[in-house]
Amino acid sequence: MNILITGGAGFIGSAVIRHIIANTSHNVLNIDKLTYAGNLESLVDISDSSRYHFSLNNICNKSAMEKVFHDFEPDIVMHLAAESHVDRSITGSADFIETNIIGTYTLLEVARQYYTNLSDIKKAIFRFHHISTDEVYGDLEEGSDNLFVESTAYAPSSPYSASKASSDHLVRAWYRTYGLPIVITNCSNNYGPYHFPEKLIPLTILNALKGKPLPIYGNGLQVRDWLYVEDHARALFLVATEAEIGETYNIGGHNELKNIDVVKGICNLLEELVPNKPNGIGNYVDLITYVKDRPGHDLRYAIDASKIQKELGWTPNEIFETGLRKTVQWYLDNQDWVENVETGEYKNWIQKQYQNN
Ligand code: NAD
Ligand code: TYD
Repeated sequence: MNILITGGAGFIGSAVIRHIIANTSHNVLNIDKLTYAGNLESLVDISDSSRYHFSLNNICNKSAMEKVFHDFEPDIVMHLAAESHVDRSITGSADFIETNIIGTYTLLEVARQYYTNLSDIKKAIFRFHHISTDEVYGDLEEGSDNLFVESTAYAPSSPYSASKASSDHLVRAWYRTYGLPIVITNCSNNYGPYHFPEKLIPLTILNALKGKPLPIYGNGLQVRDWLYVEDHARALFLVATEAEIGETYNIGGHNELKNIDVVKGICNLLEELVPNKPNGIGNYVDLITYVKDRPGHDLRYAIDASKIQKELGWTPNEIFETGLRKTVQWYLDNQDWVENVETGEYKNWIQKQYQNN
């Protein structure tokens, strides 16, 4: 099959592409604008494959997307491209509205036109998989046992989650109104290799290694349900290829942890793996610094993933302890990736190559 992946240079998209190229014989076209969060260095392991192709493109550009669909003839679209960082959405929401809402709308329209002209055989295979977040459900009460299920009402808190909720609604409307074959997944917080170092886990690892403060927003008692990114990638491929049209699946790892405990867990691992600390540091935990809380901060996320487990047989391979250890070790072993991502040197070079052609 031909699988079109948007946002494949990002954290989760690159894990999906690595998974598909390594474990299947499908062709992949990665459409990515290479924002600050998109990094082709995350795909060096598979970029030599003749089944992998890259196109530097903006999903909001309708004529460019029409050409991509026409030339590549996708059987499946996995739509991951998005602005994804809550803090950035608070200080500047315009890009979130543009990419997450207008970009999804543009893709839906292009996909609808493309689907209408497919043969019946191709129509039976085609599906549009929209990758979304559990943050569309808002938050759960601290200390409760409640979980997000697929029928939980939408109540997004941040500009990011509101933009993702909007895109979910558009995708469902294109199914109900136009019959576009869609599936939607809503996943909890991911962690693992190639995670851009603005998110809690990579930021904590890299700041600790430099002896910089480890910022905890508010009291640090907010709860997130962590899932190892490769478990998410496996789940996404399963949904894209096997789920029933029109369905929604929640994906999560049953790893509910308070932010402060995640940060302390990273500090403990670093004590073991990197006992030689930057000058003047006693213990890594001494770097923990409580800072002003995030406006509208969601208290608790927790996913009921029983539907995908029952219907598609998916379960996560990693528990948080093993996944966190792998993640910390990956950042220790891949300082060159971190440096490239922080300086953006390779990305600037790629973008110049495209401009010159
Ligand atoms: P990311 O920010 O790491 O990657 C997003 C990618 O999209 C980047 O490569 C970026 O260059 C690309 N992109 C952004 N705007 C674009 C545009 N207009 N056109 C083309 N490409 C564009 O994000 P991620 O963490 O990999 O998340 C991927 C998807 O999964 C998002 O839709 C996000 O909402 C969802 N999600 C993320 C998490 C998480 O914990 N990270 C959890 C659940 C769902
Ligand atoms: P983040 O990684 O930004 O993911 P999300 O906002 O999508 O959940 O944040 C995870 C949690 O960690 C969230 O409750 C905010 C908190 N946080 C901090 O306490 N300090 C930080 O420096 C960051 C980036 C996040």
